[in-house]
Amino acid sequence: MIYIKMATSTMICLLAMFGLAVGQYLNLLQSNPSQAFLQGFPSNFQDNNIGIFPAQRLPVNGLGYSKTKNIEELASKYKNSFSNPPPPLGAGQDPATQTCGLAPAFCTKSRYRSIDGTCNNLQRPTWGIPQTPYGRLVKFKYGDGISSFPRAVSGKELPNPREISSYLFPSKQLVDPIWNLNAQQWGQIITHDMSLTAGIAQSHKDTVSCCDDNGQLSRDAASNPLCAPIIIPPTDAVHSQVGTQCMNFVRTGTTRDRGCTPPFAPAEPLSTVTAYMDASFCYGSSDGQARPIRSYLGGRMRTILRNGREWPPQDPNVTLTCESAQSPNEPCYLAGDIRVNQNPQLTILQIIVLREHNRIADALSAINPHWDDETLYQEARRIVIAELQHINYYEYLPIFLGYDNMVKNKLIYPGAHSYVNDYNPNVDPTVLDEHATAAFRHFHTLIRGYLQLISENRRLAGIVRLSDWFNRPLLVELENAFDDLTRGLTFQPQDYSDQFWDSEITQFLFKRNNTFGGDLRATDIQRGRDHGLGSYVATRASCGLSVPKSFHEMTDFIPKQNVQLLELIYEHPEDVDLVVAGSLETNVPGAQTGPTFLCIITEQFYRTRVGDRFFFENGADPDIAFTPSQLESIRHGASIARVLCDNSDNIHHMQPKAFQQISHSNKPVPCSKLPAIDLTLWRDVGF
Ligand code: HEM
Repeated sequence: MIYIKMATSTMICLLAMFGLAVGQYLNLLQSNPSQAFLQGFPSNFQDNNIGIFPAQRLPVNGLGYSKTKNIEELASKYKNSFSNPPPPLGAGQDPATQTCGLAPAFCTKSRYRSIDGTCNNLQRPTWGIPQTPYGRLVKFKYGDGISSFPRAVSGKELPNPREISSYLFPSKQLVDPIWNLNAQQWGQIITHDMSLTAGIAQSHKDTVSCCDDNGQLSRDAASNPLCAPIIIPPTDAVHSQVGTQCMNFVRTGTTRDRGCTPPFAPAEPLSTVTAYMDASFCYGSSDGQARPIRSYLGGRMRTILRNGREWPPQDPNVTLTCESAQSPNEPCYLAGDIRVNQNPQLTILQIIVLREHNRIADALSAINPHWDDETLYQEARRIVIAELQHINYYEYLPIFLGYDNMVKNKLIYPGAHSYVNDYNPNVDPTVLDEHATAAFRHFHTLIRGYLQLISENRRLAGIVRLSDWFNRPLLVELENAFDDLTRGLTFQPQDYSDQFWDSEITQFLFKRNNTFGGDLRATDIQRGRDHGLGSYVATRASCGLSVPKSFHEMTDFIPKQNVQLLELIYEHPEDVDLVVAGSLETNVPGAQTGPTFLCIITEQFYRTRVGDRFFFENGADPDIAFTPSQLESIRHGASIARVLCDNSDNIHHMQPKAFQQISHSNKPVPCSKLPAIDLTLWRDVGF
């Protein structure tokens, strides 16, 4: 009975989002309560999502045996053995990063996307381009109405982010029963395709030090307006014991910092990559980034051959970019996105996509020997982007947003056989701050702190600790690690989408040579305040969800014991951070977030699709569109399984649903048995 009451109030609030008639829903609820809201979801969702209560969780028992030591021994042998190619221009030196996004003088119509996204929207050529502000669903909330950190309703400081992280997002491993680490990791690829906060290093040491390497407040902490170090509370279970005072935190670059708006206009944080889903993490977001990573031969991206395998070019500034590298001769990659070296699994997926580009460019060149480098590059890029869009919308997002929710909200059109002409030039594809700084960061909860290396017969070959390999991509080139880690991605369960976070990212993030490191959850909370995100309550209102006027009223979406903790931590319901409360909501059945984040993410990916004139299913402009048979082939053959198979070194078997764990219904099959895109459909018959 209690179950029905809770579920009913929650569900009714959600009906607007999912377009179900209230009567229809109530009828279903009475006849079969646990099935209400699950109609239309694939059967495997239903097995693991029981009503509005958290789904089945599997506890993790230890880490098994470890071969980490072997990896370390190997790593030490490689200290001096890499020969660096001549240094290209590093991504950090790109002059485009010093200004605000500017409209080009005019737009020329092109079959291909520009690198920086300009003129995707012909009427608003700056929509979605780098160096422009994030969008907002809710008005900014700054303490002084212009740029300072928001304060509580009482005027006091908001509660300490590290304290919130420790109380509400502790470390406990509950693993997902269905989805694997590849699902988690691909999410980071999508993120890096769509946004990057300006001015902060993210993946390596910040140039501004508000808190030094020993965790002590720097002289700049009080005087530099960019500094907002996270203060460690004296009660901190981990850091107080070692005398850490703070964690570094540098504020995001804004329109005000760059003088792009009048002096008293409120600060709008900037993103420095294209908002479009255009594989900018691979190709770059400006000409300055794109040029040094192209080979200008056969349409290929630049790669370096080592041990017969293709690797990205070397970043010229190894000690800065790959701060954990123990020698300047270690690999440290240059790619379209500066975060490429941040963690080994991310690096692997970046390399897989890079190799996919070159694989396609080679195939196109064999089919159309008369095509020049530029045509081959652009055509291969266009196919890679289409593949990724197909994988993102039809394989990845349904896991997190719910298949039925996506269909109802017109994010996907399963079974469509021809074009879907839903491009709308009035929809702004700019990434919402609520998405990038709150909702999508919720998926940091999925991260596993220890990564499995898995052999071809799917046996455990070793385990590495994540914090040993932040910003040190050497690992992926060691012996079979590239393939073993790739199989590990598809074999190892991701963490469950809940309030429990892995201590590798809440105690040891970018620890370098120190015993402890940063806290990604505390950083997310601080970043939300830095960006002046609207409160949890205000965001619920903007989503059309019920608006809690008291802590008690938050129990419609958040379990009671967590609401009680929120009430202990915050003074007033309107003080509650979106980043915090959104992550405490119970997951909507079939999705991996609660209703508020689901609203934001659904809205974002609707805009990302409908606001992209080049979206792969769009056929309105014949100069841009794929032919119907090419589109069909992309729909049939573009899968994450096939992309992994085609671009790893020696992987011969893969399960067809490669975001899903191996099971009886998802057994590895020979790679050749997986559907593939028929590139002969790109034969240029007009020649
Ligand atoms: C080991 C894996 C990961 C690590 C170490 C990591 C680390 C980070 C760091 C350090 C930041 C910047 C924090 C700040 O200073 O504000 C960040 C931002 C972010 N992360 Fe992650 N992350 C990981 C995986 C993911 C995943 C799986 C997702 C989503 C599925 C994700 C989504 C985001 C988003 C949306 C941002 C903000 C991007 C922006 O606009 O700048 N991350 N992450």
